[in-house]
Amino acid sequence: MSMTQSGATDSPFQTSRPLSAIVLAAGLGTRMKSAIPKVAHVLAGRPMIGWVIHALRPLGCDRIIVVVGYGKDMVISLTSEHLPYGAEVAFVEQGEPLGTGHAAKVAMEWLDENTEDSGGHVLVVNGDAPLITAETLAELVVYQEESGAGGTILTANLDDPSGYGRVVRGEDGRVLRIVEDRDCGPNEAAITEVNAGFYCFNRAELAEALQNLSKDNAQGEYYLPDVVEVLVSRGREIQAIDAPPEEVMGVNTRAELAETERILRERINRGHMSRGVTLVDPSTTFIGAEVSIGRDTRILPGTLIEGETSIGEGCEIGPYTRIVDSVMGSGCTVTYAVLREAQLGNGVTVGPFAYLRSGSRLADGVHIGTSVETKNATIGEHTKVPHLSYIGDAEVGSRVNIGAGSITCNFDGERKHRTIIEDDARIGSDTMLVAPVRIGKGAYTAAGSAITVDVPPGDLGVARQRQRNISGWVARRRAGTATDSNVGDDEYENSIAQELHEGTRPGQGGEHEEKRGDG
Ligand code: UD1
Ligand code: CA
Repeated sequence: MSMTQSGATDSPFQTSRPLSAIVLAAGLGTRMKSAIPKVAHVLAGRPMIGWVIHALRPLGCDRIIVVVGYGKDMVISLTSEHLPYGAEVAFVEQGEPLGTGHAAKVAMEWLDENTEDSGGHVLVVNGDAPLITAETLAELVVYQEESGAGGTILTANLDDPSGYGRVVRGEDGRVLRIVEDRDCGPNEAAITEVNAGFYCFNRAELAEALQNLSKDNAQGEYYLPDVVEVLVSRGREIQAIDAPPEEVMGVNTRAELAETERILRERINRGHMSRGVTLVDPSTTFIGAEVSIGRDTRILPGTLIEGETSIGEGCEIGPYTRIVDSVMGSGCTVTYAVLREAQLGNGVTVGPFAYLRSGSRLADGVHIGTSVETKNATIGEHTKVPHLSYIGDAEVGSRVNIGAGSITCNFDGERKHRTIIEDDARIGSDTMLVAPVRIGKGAYTAAGSAITVDVPPGDLGVARQRQRNISGWVARRRAGTATDSNVGDDEYENSIAQELHEGTRPGQGGEHEEKRGDG
């Protein structure tokens, strides 16, 4: 399972070659209590493994080997979406997960069999630590390359080190070994310097040390951190560099997932603010990792912007708005709305309480108002859909006005049909446009019409029963009811219906006149 791309990328960091990276991502993540692999869980719009791969991207590794196992198809496809350009990427199956040391060994065997070079360094990273940054990884690699040590480990000092491997140092301060949480005695448990799960080793020394691990420990697994003790026992030095605690947190539980997401979200929000976006309340603003926003756009509280969304300059978004996989120009206003796979030009106003579903394409200056839903609909420049409408499977021209409550009846119970409304048309309030149907350029429809037949350009389409007023009816048939509050609404409605039914018996009126309307 190898995807080869052309030669290594140039790194903005001073890393040397050959450099390979191994990502450990075969575990299920039992403590997540999940059916999907741990590294596939999404944080701020990007899977955990995607964050780790992103941090590796600028390092200019010659190749990245991802060790997969549980849920491998999912892990492979999610990883592939975030690959760096120009590096070779291989997915290696661990088989039975016998521990992080075993996972690293499987990757090293692949490296041995599949690469011409043999020297250089290997960076090993846990796939479940999404907060790590490229700068810190580069520091680790450069330090190792310059030190000539057997390996360099990334460590952090944590207020609460529980769950992490502890770094045991000798009296002279040298790193001696790493002891896993579950193997700690009381003295070791008190150590607050932890193994962050990022290591850079001399490749040949790592390969050799991995042959010498034992599973004589609390979990009966081969521990990668035991490589430290193996190398030290051979008289080799292990260096350690200190990382900010905010970068090393590993995700093992849902609570840690939420905590990590919060940190990533703060980073994303700070990034947007530094580029000139106003977030009125960052603590209730959720912006996905892949979102771009132009400067002077204001994001009001309670707003989620997710997926591959791009927003132009000078927009006002929110409050309480969710935008997913949508593109918007500049100068738009979106209030209390939900947008999914929608495209908006410049100066579009949406909401309050609008739902723009997939395939909604709104040209410049379009106004979508209160409680309006659109789907798979192209709407031309400066067209207004101000109130209570459903516009689906439609092509609406420019400068059209759609009266309150008008809808496209796009579904006949079996198939969807299209509605076409040409430029400058005016759709009267509460028009039902029974598709397939076309309203010609500049045509009108009468309020309350069920339009089933095309309306030619410039015509008025009317399709409704003509009203008649029954003179003196109330005094004759319901004397006193107009002021009688004892009459219940239902009773009243029923009696009216009854009366009207009687009134429309043959020979008693009930005229039909389709060709008359008031516009
Ligand atoms: C590991 C370290 C610990 C360190 C911590 C930092 C070991 C034994 N311990 O502990 O010292 O403080 O990370 O977060 O390494 N994996 C495999 N195959 C396996 C087992 C695990 O690929 O057989 C992968 C997992 O998918 C995960 C990573 O390795 O991405 C770490 O495994 P995990 O079980 O989470 O290790 P920790 O107990 O957190
Ligand atoms: Ca972990």
